[in-house]
Amino acid sequence: MLRTHTCGELRMEHTGTEVTLCGWVQRIRDKGGMIWIDLRDRYGLTQLILDESKTAPELLQTARTLGREFVVKATGEVIERVAKNPNLPTGDIEIRLTGLEVLNPAKLPPFLIEDETDGGDDLRMKYRYLDLRRGSVRRNLELRHRMAQQTRIYMDGQDFIEVETPVLIKSTPEGARDFVVPSRMNPGEFYALPQSPQTFKQLLMVSGFDRYYQIVKCFRDEDLRADRQPEFTQIDCEMSFIEQEDILQMFEGLIRHLFKNVKGIDLPEVPRMTYADAMQFYGSDKPDTRFGMPFVELKGAFDTVDLTSGKAFPVFDAAELVVGINAKGCAGYTRKQLDELTEWVKRPQIGAKGLVYVRYNPDGTLKSSVDKFYSEEDLKGWVAQFNTSGEPCEPGDLLLIMAGETAKARKQLNELRLEMGTRLGLRDPNKFSALWVLDFPLLEWGEEDGKPETGRWFAMHHPFTSPKPEDIPLLETDPGSVRANAYDMVINGTEVGGGSIRIFQKELQSMMFGKLGFTPEEAKAQFGFLLDAFEFGAPPHGGIAFGFDRLCSIFGGADSIRDFIAFPKNNSGRDVMIDSPSTIAQAQLDELKIAVK
Ligand code: AMO
Repeated sequence: MLRTHTCGELRMEHTGTEVTLCGWVQRIRDKGGMIWIDLRDRYGLTQLILDESKTAPELLQTARTLGREFVVKATGEVIERVAKNPNLPTGDIEIRLTGLEVLNPAKLPPFLIEDETDGGDDLRMKYRYLDLRRGSVRRNLELRHRMAQQTRIYMDGQDFIEVETPVLIKSTPEGARDFVVPSRMNPGEFYALPQSPQTFKQLLMVSGFDRYYQIVKCFRDEDLRADRQPEFTQIDCEMSFIEQEDILQMFEGLIRHLFKNVKGIDLPEVPRMTYADAMQFYGSDKPDTRFGMPFVELKGAFDTVDLTSGKAFPVFDAAELVVGINAKGCAGYTRKQLDELTEWVKRPQIGAKGLVYVRYNPDGTLKSSVDKFYSEEDLKGWVAQFNTSGEPCEPGDLLLIMAGETAKARKQLNELRLEMGTRLGLRDPNKFSALWVLDFPLLEWGEEDGKPETGRWFAMHHPFTSPKPEDIPLLETDPGSVRANAYDMVINGTEVGGGSIRIFQKELQSMMFGKLGFTPEEAKAQFGFLLDAFEFGAPPHGGIAFGFDRLCSIFGGADSIRDFIAFPKNNSGRDVMIDSPSTIAQAQLDELKIAVK
């Protein structure tokens, strides 16, 4: 070993020892008579010191050639510091140098390699290997490592076995586009990279493996966002001879184990909410439950009293849904602030036509932006509705109300609720609120590229998800209302995992494919292997997959999963460091029999 200790290790008890450290030069301060060097490695930072009057001239000369990020080997004696640094674990000591060897000089790095850097996103991605030297990024990857280790400990303790499934496969329908790989040996044919190991884990259940898991790369060619990467990692799991309740218990156990062992947090029992309630009360299938602010319907399909119709306010009269939230303590918002909020909901990303507000003034009077149409008596009715079906309203509160077609109004109010949560400081990244969302619809109506003639039913989760047995008759009469044995886990408003109890009978699976518009021939061509397997004794089974990158980012209190992936892609799906994707040589194309236009 080139070193005796790491740069994060030395303490007062080491004083008087002769040590050798290796690392990168973080900073040099040359004050004439004294030179200080901060030496950094994965474990921390240690201060090296040279006193001109007591140091050999060659050593001083070497020290004066050093630049930032030079790789050096430094030998010396551990001494007590005169000016201690309480912010640094090694801050009580320093090393009085007796030897210094430059192992490799370095060019000046393109940005500061410190927690607070001056490098923009693009630059840091191009030199990601330098970005990874920064403590803040390194700590994210250390967290990821601990998450993976603790996952394995929990899963192993529950008798799950880790099985690897192939990466060159055939398309799995998870709803995104596939990445494909041409086959040289089979010209004109392609493998697909797995969007998830879904069919393989089900086949492993048919094989009798009973409890499977895998920390596995998945690939989806979809539009990227802060919480989406084209290649990402799942904790993928499947179990046999279970019911939904068993899965919920087992994987709530995993999440609580991770919180306990990685963050030292005792996560309370995870509450449950149906999809229908999530949509009604939060306008989202992944509500952020760190704060309340539930929706209150003033006019809607549910059994609420219609408090808005017939008052000649055309917007509300024409609306399918009139729905609001209570922004606690915001009655004092100025006209300017309210105008700004109205503009905010009108931005194309939100797409609302407008925003109605009611100020519940501290003196108990009610004043709205639609006073022309509604009397104070009417507004009192609204407040009463908030009091019965939402969180109680008090003087000082501000009601924010939106109207329109049900799905749209909910989506828009969901955005506003989240924005108000942020503005009111209710979304603390160091507070964690987990939720199971249950009873998702089995099917949703969709169109390809917005063309009505292509309209058909799509599986909301995936085609292997089982319907609730009591809803099976509805498949014929009202497919949209059939509920699935499907569940998501949501933490702080992010979907961190999703799964379902699967279909395990060939007849039901064939019927599902039929509902999804597959002819029997198409179903056989694409999923014949699974339908065949179901004829050889498939056990009842179900499972779940967690988005591992998302879990890590939430545990790390960050929004973007990129910071928790060693070498991520940018928003255009590019790796700017290795410059990929890229063209390939004509000879390679020829070999693959691919003509590029
Ligand atoms: P699903 O498609 O819901 O289910 O994916 C499971 C979880 O994976 C995460 N995730 C992503 N994370 C980062 N980037 C992406 N592009 C991305 N896409 C999904 C999410 C999501 O909850 N085979 C089923 C699971 C099952 O039924 O057992 C599946 O893949 O956190």
